[in-house]
Amino acid sequence: MADVKKHNTPMVDELKGGSWPSFVDDIEQKGLKGKQECLDLLGQLELSYEHKETHWKHGGIVGVFGYGGGVIGRYSDVPEKFPSIAHFHTIRLNQPSSKFYNSDFLRKMCDMWDHRGSGMTNLHGSTGDIVLLGTKTDELEPIFYDCTHQLGADLGGSGSNLRTPSCCVGKARCEYSCLDTQDICNDLTQTYQDELHRPAFPYKFKFKVSGCPNDCVAAIARSDCAIIGTWKDDIRIDQAAVQAYIGGELKPNAGAHSDRDWGPFDIQKEVIDLCPTNCMWMEGKELKIDNRECTRCMHCINVMPAALRPGVETGATILVGAKAPILEGAQLATLAIPFIRMESPYDELKDFVEKVWDWWMEEGKNRERFGELIQRQSIQEFLRRTGLKPIPQMVKEPRSNPYVFWSADEVEGGWERDVKAFRARHAA
Ligand code: HEM
Ligand code: HEM
Ligand code: SF4
Ligand code: SF4
Repeated sequence: MADVKKHNTPMVDELKGGSWPSFVDDIEQKGLKGKQECLDLLGQLELSYEHKETHWKHGGIVGVFGYGGGVIGRYSDVPEKFPSIAHFHTIRLNQPSSKFYNSDFLRKMCDMWDHRGSGMTNLHGSTGDIVLLGTKTDELEPIFYDCTHQLGADLGGSGSNLRTPSCCVGKARCEYSCLDTQDICNDLTQTYQDELHRPAFPYKFKFKVSGCPNDCVAAIARSDCAIIGTWKDDIRIDQAAVQAYIGGELKPNAGAHSDRDWGPFDIQKEVIDLCPTNCMWMEGKELKIDNRECTRCMHCINVMPAALRPGVETGATILVGAKAPILEGAQLATLAIPFIRMESPYDELKDFVEKVWDWWMEEGKNRERFGELIQRQSIQEFLRRTGLKPIPQMVKEPRSNPYVFWSADEVEGGWERDVKAFRARHAA
């Protein structure tokens, strides 16, 4: 292993400078310890910097038996220059919910990856997976065997299927969490293993779970089905703690802005005047909230976490259809269910999800995201297929154009008309 060949990489080497941890430094150190893949990768990167073009060939279809996804195949288009990365496949490994590890697991994973792969990883992929960066086709089945038999870990998703679900830290570490995000994420992952491993959909589909509307996994922007915690009852107020914020004993936003002098905390200016619905006020020394008008935006709770807490009647809001720009433009998710109870085994949610899939799997065009199906066939069709009742909370504003469709049974007399009857009353 000792005979590793370093390439001349002047441009890449410039990225060793500065105070931000340098990926070049890390990769090179790994390479000098005997991983030629690392040095070849930096060599090919240098070539790409020079040409301002990628040097990976198009596509690549590899995987493991039984599964239709989980591995992203990739081949260098300059394999004679960088033979150790002629194959450079990426393996997606399903991460534990919220990415809590113990060192024993990580050590075992690294031993396996040092042995069978490049030693390079991405912790983590944007969807959430542990990403094992760079190995050869012949190693895929042995890696899969080791992952399942020794690490107790399965592959994540790729392709036109359910991708690896992910969630925020939730109740493990956050006082705002209205959901057991980890249990929900794990339950969905286990329940829909088949949909995750064997692509059966028109296109990809993602779940993300955030415990509150701060949405720390960006579910509303990056998942076809976003599950976001909320509450139905009143914000819990500790008036003594409110006074401690006003008196300066407690720092606003838990000290998040302490690197600059914003002056003494002013509850009127920083909380009450910023409430988007204007539903807060001071009555003498008491902070009051008109909870009927509160949209649960989290602002006041974020500013005074020791004084304000979400209510106790918790559940989730379900939003659907988020996607990146291709083809029909970027979408944030749109509200489908304002409030749903989230108790294991989450049957109500699964019932909804399966209705969504029934519709989309049947009607979705090839490579049409769920959000685009809604755009094409309408929100009304979405409601009809999922059995949801239209409610005002589903729209930001009512439509402004008058191109309203009615179904024949909603209109007296239906659509069948005889022009002769019309002419009998109106001469041509
Ligand atoms: C008593 C006489 C008339 C009545 C009651 C009438 C009524 C209407 C109504 C209800 C609309 C639809 C408005 C909308 O979509 O918001 C309309 C549109 C229109 N009318 Fe009339 N109209 C009359 C006479 C006329 C005449 C004499 C002309 C032309 C010589 C005309 C040309 C148009 C045109 C071009 C539009 C389409 C406007 C658009 O799409 O923006 N109308 N009319
Ligand atoms: C070269 C001549 C004309 C052109 C290029 C033209 C073009 C158009 C176009 C593009 C529309 C909109 C269609 C839509 O988006 O739904 C329209 C609508 C309309 N045009 Fe014309 N038009 C012409 C002549 C006329 C004339 C001479 C009249 C009446 C005397 C007329 C009456 C209307 C009316 C009433 C509508 C509204 C139809 C509706 O809302 O369903 N147009 N026209
Ligand atoms: S989304 Fe809410 S509950 Fe989850 S970690 Fe962020 S603030 Fe906490
Ligand atoms: S959560 Fe938002 S809307 Fe509700 S009271 Fe606080 S600032 Fe106002």
